[in-house]
Amino acid sequence: MSNLNSFISENSGRFLEELKDFLRIPSISTASEHDGDCRRAADWLADHLQQLGIRKVDLLGSESHPVVWAEGPEAPGKPTVLVYGHYDVQPPDPLDLWKTPPFEPTVRGGNLYARGTSDDKGQVFSIIKGFEAATRTSEGPPLNIRYIIEGQEETGSDVIFDLLKREPDRVKADAVLVADMPYYARGIPAIYTALRGICYVEIKVRVLAGDLHSGLYGGVAPNAHEVLVQLLGRLKTKDGKIHIPGLYEAVEKPSRAELNAWKRLPLDRDRYLKKEVGARELVGYPGKSVFERLWALPTFEIHGIRGGFTAAGAKTVIPAEATAKVSLRLVPGQKSATVARQLRAAVKTLTPEYATASVTVIHGGDPVEVDISRPPFQVLAEAFRKVEGRAPVPIRSGGSIPIVPALQRKRAPVLLAGIGLPDDGLHAPNEKLGVNQFKKGIKVFAGFFQSFGAT
Ligand code: BES
Ligand code: MN
Ligand code: MN
Repeated sequence: MSNLNSFISENSGRFLEELKDFLRIPSISTASEHDGDCRRAADWLADHLQQLGIRKVDLLGSESHPVVWAEGPEAPGKPTVLVYGHYDVQPPDPLDLWKTPPFEPTVRGGNLYARGTSDDKGQVFSIIKGFEAATRTSEGPPLNIRYIIEGQEETGSDVIFDLLKREPDRVKADAVLVADMPYYARGIPAIYTALRGICYVEIKVRVLAGDLHSGLYGGVAPNAHEVLVQLLGRLKTKDGKIHIPGLYEAVEKPSRAELNAWKRLPLDRDRYLKKEVGARELVGYPGKSVFERLWALPTFEIHGIRGGFTAAGAKTVIPAEATAKVSLRLVPGQKSATVARQLRAAVKTLTPEYATASVTVIHGGDPVEVDISRPPFQVLAEAFRKVEGRAPVPIRSGGSIPIVPALQRKRAPVLLAGIGLPDDGLHAPNEKLGVNQFKKGIKVFAGFFQSFGAT
């Protein structure tokens, strides 16, 4: 252990410089002009893994957003761990809010700032460095390691979904390790028992052959925006309930034990409301706790409405068409494909005769539930305890990682944990990762690999 810690301390400067190189590549998967950058990030990762002595490294499934697959040197008789993560990042905008440019990684006040530090390049890298440290401070690799790092997590994961459909055996392992989520709070690591799923759609309403003059036709002609907002206003009402028939029926209630554990989690309500959410009141399903609303109930969110006239000045138009981007977060028990069908049916029922409404699914992913009573979870918890001085808390997350259900398909326990902090600013300007969190993460994962390899 002290061997390991001194190796990590001696090399942490180099680790940080290597991570900065990875972060400089603007691998934004949601913008096609960055296809080349996504490929460059995959190439960078593949080269890096090769330099670490991994001989079998492949780029799979796509020229622009390949899955990086790597198989470490054999460790006969030892268990196999599959590491999942993603090298793609969210767009950095609004750019003017960044104190230093998003793709020029900079250390300030003990934090490394850049897009992708916490979500997810920095976290993936802490695992890779953890394995390097564990290997270099003992007689070779502590266990059999495999990496499956995708480049489309932020856009629906098509390439890796196809790959795992064709080759399901790639997820055969004794444990799958995913570090793409934060601690519960500073000093309090977390192991996740569930993630929400998602059903992301576009709803398009059409009521006229073309736009009309609102003076000449207003009063008799239907208006697409009016139909759309009434439709949306009936899909979710002021009381926070979603009115999609069948939606709540599939929702599984969290267990007593889980609900009790959530009650014990420290939560400063005032700070949460005012500082973190920045609102005057919390909304949502009546009579349920904050954690139940975040982790155990579906949501319905309107992301944006497009159409009609929104430029400066005034234009008296009756819009023929209106479009909304909408998503639902889903919880254990629900299925993305079923919810898409239920939503389609609800929209159909609520659309007046004189309008047509279409629902197009943009992407989807099922929720995840993890049984953390299996042995590898104790090994990971102990690795956290050694570094952080306390065991992780079991929590859920409201976020989604669409491919995780497929990683569970061969029954490997999926360890969902991470080294970031809740205020890392995922998807936001000035995303960061604490340099100390990064170093702790390397120690945690190195410790996990050595201990799990010895089981
Ligand atoms: N790493 C996040 C998901 C996450 C964040 C899980 C915090 C748990 C805690 C991931 O990169 C992400 O942003 N996922 C998207 C998925 C979507 C684009 C399909 C999300 O949740 O919006
Ligand atoms: Mn992520
Ligand atoms: Mn993300």
